[in-house]
Amino acid sequence: KYKQDGEEAKEIAKYLPYFPFKGIDRFYDIGGFLCQPEIFQKIVNIFVERYETIGVDVIAGLDARGFILGPPIALAMKKPFVMMRKEGKMPNTVKSPGYDVEYGKRSGLTVQRDKIKEGDRVLIIDDLVATGGTLSSAISLVKMLGGTVVECACVVELKCFIDPPEDSGMPSRKKTFEK
Ligand code: PRP
Ligand code: MG
Repeated sequence: KYKQDGEEAKEIAKYLPYFPFKGIDRFYDIGGFLCQPEIFQKIVNIFVERYETIGVDVIAGLDARGFILGPPIALAMKKPFVMMRKEGKMPNTVKSPGYDVEYGKRSGLTVQRDKIKEGDRVLIIDDLVATGGTLSSAISLVKMLGGTVVECACVVELKCFIDPPEDSGMPSRKKTFEK
């Protein structure tokens, strides 16, 4: 029904080369559509339609940009929104193992223990997937609390099967993705 990488997507998916530093070939930012309410609404509607059909109990958004996309979807579906935050920001949390991202290593994500219950069907939302390290960390958290991940949903997917040069010091995307 909706076309991936269509004309509208190309128009709003402008990217900045060399940010945050040289070696990163493209930096995509959802700031493009956030200031275009009609497109933002359309994106929210696509997710709402899909996940109302599939059925979820909890919507988990990843710090920071998953916090922008998750709440409008959760409100439209009248489901709880749960924050998965970087370490040290909330009390009474569980933490997933550390992970590699496109430009470095990250400490695990955290979630408050009482926010996901045994058997909960959880939808994980973020803006973008590159190596998949961040999403893998979020999946571990859901499992640690006995929940089930229904799906992970993002707006942008960077093609992950082209590895950076071996001497670049950047993690292998392919390896992380396969995990
Ligand atoms: C960015 C992006 C995703 C993650 C994807 O987050 O928002 O969360 O990288 O990369 P991966 O698939 O290789 O894990 P980042 O923490 O850089 O920035 P943010 O705090 O603005 O979301
Ligand atoms: Mg992020």
